Amino acid sequence: MCGIVGYIGNRQAAPILLDGLSKLEYRGYDSAGIAVHSVDKINMVKSKGRLKVLEELTHNGSTLNGTVGIGHTRWATHGSPSDQNAHPHFNKNNSIVIVHNGIIENYLKLKKKLEKKGYEFISETDTEVIVHLLDYYYSGNPLQAVTKIMHRMEGSYALGIIFSDHPNELYAVRKDSPLIVGKTEGGNVVASDVPAVLKYTRNVYFVENEEIVRMTRDEMEFFTVDEEPIEKTSVEIEWDINAAEKGGYEHFMLKEMYEQPKAITDTFSPRLKGQDIVIEELNMSDQDIKSIEKIMIVACGSAYHAGVTSKYVFEGLAKIPVEVDLASEFRYRNPLLREGTLVIVISQSGETADTLAALREAKELGSRVLGIVNVVGSSIAREADNVMYTWAGPEIAVATTKAYSAQLIALYLLAMKFACVRGELTDHELAAMVEDLKALPAQVEMLLNNKNKIQRFANRYLAAKDVFFIGRGIDYAISLEGSLKLKEISYIHSEAYAAGELKHGTISLIEEGTLVASVLTQKQLYKKMISNMVEVRTRGAFVLAVTNEGNVEVERAADYVIYIPETNKYFANSLAIIPLQLFGYYIAIGRGCDVDKPRNLAKSVTVE
Ligand code: AGP
Repeated sequence: MCGIVGYIGNRQAAPILLDGLSKLEYRGYDSAGIAVHSVDKINMVKSKGRLKVLEELTHNGSTLNGTVGIGHTRWATHGSPSDQNAHPHFNKNNSIVIVHNGIIENYLKLKKKLEKKGYEFISETDTEVIVHLLDYYYSGNPLQAVTKIMHRMEGSYALGIIFSDHPNELYAVRKDSPLIVGKTEGGNVVASDVPAVLKYTRNVYFVENEEIVRMTRDEMEFFTVDEEPIEKTSVEIEWDINAAEKGGYEHFMLKEMYEQPKAITDTFSPRLKGQDIVIEELNMSDQDIKSIEKIMIVACGSAYHAGVTSKYVFEGLAKIPVEVDLASEFRYRNPLLREGTLVIVISQSGETADTLAALREAKELGSRVLGIVNVVGSSIAREADNVMYTWAGPEIAVATTKAYSAQLIALYLLAMKFACVRGELTDHELAAMVEDLKALPAQVEMLLNNKNKIQRFANRYLAAKDVFFIGRGIDYAISLEGSLKLKEISYIHSEAYAAGELKHGTISLIEEGTLVASVLTQKQLYKKMISNMVEVRTRGAFVLAVTNEGNVEVERAADYVIYIPETNKYFANSLAIIPLQLFGYYIAIGRGCDVDKPRNLAKSVTVE
């Protein structure tokens, strides 16, 4: 996600901004910029690429004089990485400048209104709407203008704002995207996250939702969205810089697991308009959707597993036949793609070589290709005919968690949309599913808070040699992902099996104490699964079961049971994966593995 830094004090701002932004690089970004209020105007430098480019352009900040400034590292959500789309953004006469972290969900509507009032836009970003809206409401009182735009904007935002006719003030605003402010020696700072300010202060204020901060060199005032002053107490930060980059979590992987509720929310909320699902970026008419005869899903690793889950969802909801294939297989098997086949490629990085090659192969064969991608402006995002972004934010840990969960959400939305358009889902059924979707973030959070129980269980299996994950139907798909999570970070051999397949060979591997993780979320398959669990248990296996609350019958066939909350049967994977992610994580921790950077692995496999 984007990074924000701001400074007002008695020192030159630019070097402090660049230093603060460098401490936020871990958040992932594709462009950066700074703006500094000089004597009579605001000067700005921004560019696509790494911070180094900005340091060179500004000679490490020395070409921008002034003691009030804001800076930004951009993780693109709306508009590809480019100089124009980089922050900060000016209003039309360069008298107001802002930086933003978050997503303005109603930016298109606001943009159209502003264009009708003569405002011109030079970027593709949602952020530029904010600065023109500020301009529209500004009549010399910054606080008043800020509160007015807050009543108009929907979505999430952390803002840093400078008004050229108020050179001794710096404003900061927060709604949903984190923001902190702190008093330093001879000045005040604002930032998206603690690492950017630790060098200057350990005494920070966490800005709460819909709070506004007005900073001068000596003062810091807080206001509500109704311009009422409020008192806040500061917090002493104990973290070291390394821990701070992980938000206080021990590893990026754990931090990103805990970001799953937000990744899920950010991926579905802009696409839920009332009870309707609106996926504008799909660019497919109802007729296009009705004419889909088959869906071909192509991906690698966890993205492939998300595709396997979605096969059950598309076929169950939209009644469209789905084939799922590994990109490394698809690209060399001369795939038979008929007219009416929609190809969906799934990729967190958008740079996976096999998936990109598969996309090109499908396009050469004349198929329409939809990309489900997390990195805006990546190769797959650019080359797909249409792209549906997952808004999980940058994922640092090699083992994917939040991006995978966001992929599931994107696929659920697509399947629900297709089912509605093809008359396979009534409005009433859709409304119930939308409610279940909205309940997922809190349910995921509840499961994550169960982590100590999982850690205790995991510590019993640090020396395991073989672990099996079994499931039927959509639970087989989650077994694939649960198995990959374990083996890729703990280096324990693990296999996922369709539970009905065990007796066709693999059951010969079951010995005394072999751990078998069984996923049972599909009521119609409970009995079959329980008999598979009994099969392995009578041969000495220790059976861990992940199942729905209330399915207590499973306790006669399992040695250890983890219950997940009830949800729509098609969404169960989004919940069942949480204990399995935690299981793999704590086993890897217990074995002293490098969880964020497992041996032999890369975050993005850009070579064959
Ligand atoms: C998953 O934890 C792995 N990091 C890996 O399987 C990954 O999902 C796969 O390489 C695909 O990457 P992509 O989503 O960036 O295309």
